Amino acid sequence: MNIIDALGYRKSVRAFLKKEVETDQITRILNAARHAPSGTNAQPWDVAIVRGKTRIKLTTALIEAFNDNGLGEMDYKYYPVKWKEPFKKRRVTCGAQLYSALKINRKDKEKRLEQWLANYKGFDAPVLLFFFLDSIMEKGSFLDYGMFIQSVMLAALEEGLATCAQAALGQNPELIKTTLGYGTDTTLICGMALGYEDTSAPQNNYRTPRETVEGFTKFFE
Ligand SMILES: Cc1cc2nc3c(=O)[nH]c(=O)nc-3n(C[C@H](O)[C@H](O)[C@H](O)COP(=O)(O)O)c2cc1C
Repeated sequence: MNIIDALGYRKSVRAFLKKEVETDQITRILNAARHAPSGTNAQPWDVAIVRGKTRIKLTTALIEAFNDNGLGEMDYKYYPVKWKEPFKKRRVTCGAQLYSALKINRKDKEKRLEQWLANYKGFDAPVLLFFFLDSIMEKGSFLDYGMFIQSVMLAALEEGLATCAQAALGQNPELIKTTLGYGTDTTLICGMALGYEDTSAPQNNYRTPRETVEGFTKFFE
């Protein structure tokens, strides 16, 4: 797949087949993504690959934590405290598209909660990735990490695999760090679901809109 096609083809996938991903595939993905650029070539990425029993243990604990304490807090603020336009509208559309695909009524709290909880299970993907950063690193490393994460998502396509980056998987950083043996001197950036797309799932069968280039670009001569 050429690069332009891959950029347009990638999408977030929220339902996966029960088909295992080979260790070699994961290694090839990370082997490609490690070429991502980073300021001073610091390469700040530290990736935990979670599968098998550890995945079940961790996702079960995340759901229990949500049931006991509600939404947890990420190590950093990913979203604004107070939304404004045009971001607010795009955010609403994002949720509306998902619920509409799943035929979940806006007022059906139970079904919405069920769908939200699917996040903590990594949408039942066979592999979950967790992206950690040394806490001494600054905002610049978040830029580097974004490039790395997109590289992982594109390289996954080459392996016939699908992904969903998940801020929701970063909402209980202490629990995740304790389970995986990471120290408090690390920042959990986010998680990612990785596996084979269930192409029959309605939540995988829509595309999110994008602004036109004219909408976000100014040319200066
Ligand atoms: C860092 C990051 C975190 C995200 N977190 C979540 C999440 O927790 N749950 C979810 O369902 N989607 C999550 N998404 C997916 C976005 O909703 C999605 O990228 C956006 O709606 C655009 O759709 P597309 O990825 O299909 O192009 C996240 C995406 C990024 C880049």
